[in-house]
Parts: sequence; C-alpha cells; structure tokens
Amino acid sequence: MKTKRALNVFMIFLFTAPLLLAQEMERSFSYDDFRTPEYCGTSCHVQFYQQWQQSMMAQAYTHEWDEVEYFKLAVPHADRDENVAAVKHECNGCHAPISFLVGDTPPPKPAMNSRANESVSCEACHLITGFKGDTPFNFNYIMEPGKKKYSGRGTDAKSPNHEIVATELHKSGDFCGICHNEKSPYGAWVKSTHLEWKEGPYAKEGVQCQDCHMPKAEYATAEMGRVYKDARLHLFHGAHDPGKVGGTIELRINPDIEMAEPGGVAKFTIHLFNQKTGHKFPSGSVEDRIVWLHVEAVDAAGNVYHLPVDKKGFEGEEYTIAADVLAYQDMGIALDKPNFKGVQRDGVPIGDRIFRMPYFDPQGRMTIQQWNTKSFGVDYRIGPRETITETFTFNIPFEAAPGKMKVNAVLNYQKLVKPVADFLGVPDEADIMIVNNHSTEIEIID
Ligand code: HEC
Ligand code: HEC
Ligand code: HEC
Ligand code: HEC
Repeated sequence: MKTKRALNVFMIFLFTAPLLLAQEMERSFSYDDFRTPEYCGTSCHVQFYQQWQQSMMAQAYTHEWDEVEYFKLAVPHADRDENVAAVKHECNGCHAPISFLVGDTPPPKPAMNSRANESVSCEACHLITGFKGDTPFNFNYIMEPGKKKYSGRGTDAKSPNHEIVATELHKSGDFCGICHNEKSPYGAWVKSTHLEWKEGPYAKEGVQCQDCHMPKAEYATAEMGRVYKDARLHLFHGAHDPGKVGGTIELRINPDIEMAEPGGVAKFTIHLFNQKTGHKFPSGSVEDRIVWLHVEAVDAAGNVYHLPVDKKGFEGEEYTIAADVLAYQDMGIALDKPNFKGVQRDGVPIGDRIFRMPYFDPQGRMTIQQWNTKSFGVDYRIGPRETITETFTFNIPFEAAPGKMKVNAVLNYQKLVKPVADFLGVPDEADIMIVNNHSTEIEIID
C-alpha cells in the first residue's frame, strides 16, 4: 500500500513537471512584444510576406484540419486524460508560438481572428537566438523579442528599422528541427524530419533544409533594399503542394518475361527510388499520411485485373498491405464514445503496398493522434536516395485476351487517410496526389 502511494506521487510529479515548465515559459511575454507579419510585410518585406502568406507556415493555426484536430480531438482529450493534459497548451508551441509564449492557450478559435492566427510568423522565426540542450525538438527555442532580428545573412545586411544579428543557426537545418522534431508525452519521436535528415546523405554533404525549402534566387530582400544573388525565398513547400510531392519517387516497372500464355505466370518487379527528399518519404505528420502502390493489368480486350503485392515476410508487414480492418479507436476518448469501434484503417484497394510507419496508442492500437502515441510498428518508408524493390506475381487468368497486355503501376499519396478525413469532416485532406507512374507490356499468346 505504502509503495503504491509513493509510486502514485512520483507519477504525478512526472506528469506535472513538464507542464509546470511549459507554463513557466508561457506568460513571460505579452503580445505587444511581437510585431505582426503585416507590420513586416506591408512596406518593407513585401515579397517575402506574400510568399510566406501562401505557405503552410501562415496557416499553421488556421488551416481547417489543424483547427479540427486541435479543437475536436486534442483539447477534449487533454481534458480527459492527465497523461496528455499538457498538449492543450503545447500544440501551440509550434503552431502558434507567439500565443504560446504569452500564455494565450488554448487560443480563441480561428474565426475570432486573434493573434494566434499569425501562426508561424516572421517574428516566431526571426527572434529565435538558439535552442536549449543538444537536440532541437519540441519548440525548445530561446526567443528574444526586441529590435534585434536574427537571420543567416552576415554583417553586410542593414535595415533602417531594426538591427540584424547574423547566426549560424538560421543557416542550418538544426534551426528547423526546433519544430520539425517532436516527442510525444509518452517519449516517442512522433516527428523526426530533422533527425532523418541528420542521419541521411544530405546533411553529410552539407545540404540544408533551406536549400530545398527556401531556395536561393537573385532578389531584393526588402523594398528599396539591396539585391542579393542568393536571397532565400520563403516558399516552404511540402506535402500540400502537388508539384513538390510529384516526382519525389522515381518509379520503374519491368516484367521477367516478354510473352506468356493464359494460365501462365508473369512476375513484375518495381523499383522505387527516392530522388527528391532530404528525409524519409513520407515525413513529418507520418501518423496521417498514406503512400500506396497500385498495380493493374489491362488485356487487349480492355479487361482490368488488380495485382496484389507479393508478401516479403518481415515483421509487422501486415500494416504495409492494405486490408479491410478497423483502426483509430482512440479518437473515441475525445469524442466521448468509449466504445468507438474505429474507422477503416487504410481506405485504399486491398492488397496494395503501403509505405508508412504505423503509430500505436498506449493500448497498442493504430492511431493518428501523435500526442497519444507510445510506440511504432515497422518503419516501411523510403529513405533519402534509398531504393525499395517490390514484386507482383501475376497468375494470368485463362480468360485473358490474346495480344498486348499493359501493366500500370501508380504511386499515390494522401495527406490524411480517407476514412479519417471523411469521419472528421475534412474530405479535402484526402485528395489523391499522384507521386509517379510507369507502365510496361507483355504479349499474351494463344
Ligand atoms: C516555430 C516552429 C517552426 C520552425 C522553426 C520551422 N517550422 Fe516548418 N512548420 C511548422 C509548422 C507548425 C508547420 C505545419 C503547418 C501546418 O499546420 O500544416 C510547418 C510546416 C512546414 C512545411 C510545410 C509542410 C507541408 O505539409 O506542406 C515545410 C516545407 C516546412 N515547415 C519547412 C521548414 C523549414 C525548412 C524550416 C527551417 C528553415 C522550418 N520549417 C522551421 C513550424 C516550424
Ligand atoms: C519558419 C521560419 C521563418 C519564417 C516564418 C520566416 N522566416 Fe525569414 N528567414 C528564415 C531563415 C531560416 C532565414 C535565413 C536562411 C539562410 O540565411 O540560410 C530567413 C531569412 C530572411 C531574410 C533575409 C534573406 C536573406 O537572403 O538574407 C529576411 C529579410 C526575412 N527572412 C524576412 C522574413 C519575413 C518578413 C517573414 C514574414 C513574412 C519571414 N522572414 C518569415 C526563416 C523564417
Ligand atoms: C534534398 C531536398 C530536401 C531536403 C534537404 C529537405 N527536404 Fe523536406 N521535402 C523535400 C521534398 C521534395 C518534399 C515533398 C515530398 C514529401 O512530402 O515528403 C519535402 C517534404 C517536406 C515536408 C512535408 C513532409 C510530409 O510528408 O508531410 C516537411 C515538413 C519538410 N519537407 C521539412 C524539411 C525539413 C525540416 C528539412 C531539414 C531537416 C528538410 N525538409 C530537408 C525535399 C527536401
Ligand atoms: C514540435 C512542434 C509541434 C508540436 C508540439 C505540434 N505540432 Fe503539429 N505539426 C508540426 C509540424 C512541423 C507539422 C508539419 C509536418 C508535415 O507537414 O508533415 C505539423 C503538422 C500538423 C498537422 C497536419 C497538417 C497537415 O500538414 O496535414 C496537424 C493537424 C497538427 N500538426 C496538429 C497538431 C496538434 C493538434 C498538436 C498538439 C497535440 C500538434 N500539432 C503539436 C509541429 C508541431
């Protein structure tokens, strides 16, 4: 009895300590300490402002799916489960940093047009002077509001409005890791884009996140200001941009034979080469994303046959092959439906190969709630410059028409698994983007 009580006290301490720390960090500033993006963008940084405005950075708090996930799932879940109580405030550490720092959490809903709507604003990045500890993660930034703006450009940059302090940090991918690495309240690395990059080939070659997401162009960084040959565009394109996602993976399919008879067997091999990302694909909000490979054969008479992927037999493979099963039961906590049965796990054709890493809640059920994640399944994503090979063995039906048979492979991407998107009323999040496609032919002989 006594040890149990001691353990409980210890656990309460464990769970409330980070919360207190976070609250200590909040409330140390007021909104007046921070300039609005409009202030920076109206007469000086007009172009950067417009670019930023079109990026997800400017919508990190207001975007519909962010609003739905935060207010419909995270906030009520935090109110019901003390293990995750702190996320009610902490989501804002990355999505609405200024509101977090002034202690305005949960902030008013986006429709109220409060300063939380500034999302990841100019000041949220340009007042950062460093981060605490060795690893950037969970908004461990150090912010110093005031006249000094911190950025990568050296001492030749001058502004009539504010001082410019050059930092090495802003030129490095470590800067991005402050918000692009995230550890859940259960200690699981639920976002690790920066860590994936750091371990991969690009970081070793000195290629930074900025080189792909803030490309250099000849530009005046401010109206009437100096033109630089290597000014950093504020584009931040990623998963929401079909043009950025398209072509990420090079896809090639080839058969093992050129001719086959009905009733015979043909084997198709597909290589998927990650030629574009500096981290894994998919990365970031991996709990939401689904990438799947769909293969179909079409015979000379136009009959269509769906080819399921050959199993490889690795541990946890069942999560990488589309199936008719339910998942995401832990949404029931926030929705106050304790017996919630869940929704379809994948919502894509059964038997297709899925490239993902499943997230598991404390009960071991698959979840899209990254804050409620305690462990992971197999990491079957495509690493930077990695090539994954898949095979599809096709037992050619006896009724297949003689002549040319075309076999098409398509790699599809959705930002959010469709059954969840439909269930939560954000169907647009499940729009299909084509990453790539390729096809080959064999001859069906009589
Ligand atoms: C203060 C926190 C913060 C910092 C620092 C930060 N980001 Fe982000 N970033 C976010 C948040 C939050 C989002 C998600 C927006 C949303 O809700 O979709 C995001 C989104 C993105 C996206 C869009 C992804 C998509 O799904 O379309 C890209 C690309 C990106 N960031 C790149 C970077 C790079 C590169 C850096 C470093 C130069 C960086 N970020 C630094 C918080 C940050
Ligand atoms: C997600 C973080 C982030 C946000 C938001 C952001 N910036 Fe930046 N900005 C950077 C980084 C990082 C650099 C420096 C990159 C480098 O030097 O490699 C930079 C560079 C700059 C520069 C200098 C450009 C150069 O090439 O020297 C200006 C000016 C600037 N930002 C203004 C703005 C303004 C204005 C806004 C808001 C409309 C804004 N930034 C929003 C991260 C951000
Ligand atoms: C070699 C180029 C390259 C580098 C380096 C790179 N990225 Fe990306 N990134 C891409 C491409 C291409 C995409 C679009 C495909 C995708 O969504 O993964 C992308 C997507 C993203 C996304 C959306 C991922 C998703 O699936 O939702 C985020 C967030 C992001 N990058 C952030 C970063 C950060 C942070 C770094 C550095 C730690 C970085 N990127 C380094 C090329 C790069
Ligand atoms: C450590 C920083 C950090 C914290 C804390 C954080 N996020 Fe995020 N969040 C991000 C970044 C960065 C992205 C963009 C990743 C990507 O595009 O793949 C993101 C993406 C998202 C998205 C997906 C938007 C899209 O691109 O489809 C949602 C929804 C979201 N976050 C909600 C939340 C909620 C709710 C919480 C609190 C439980 C939270 N986030 C906590 C950094 C954070």
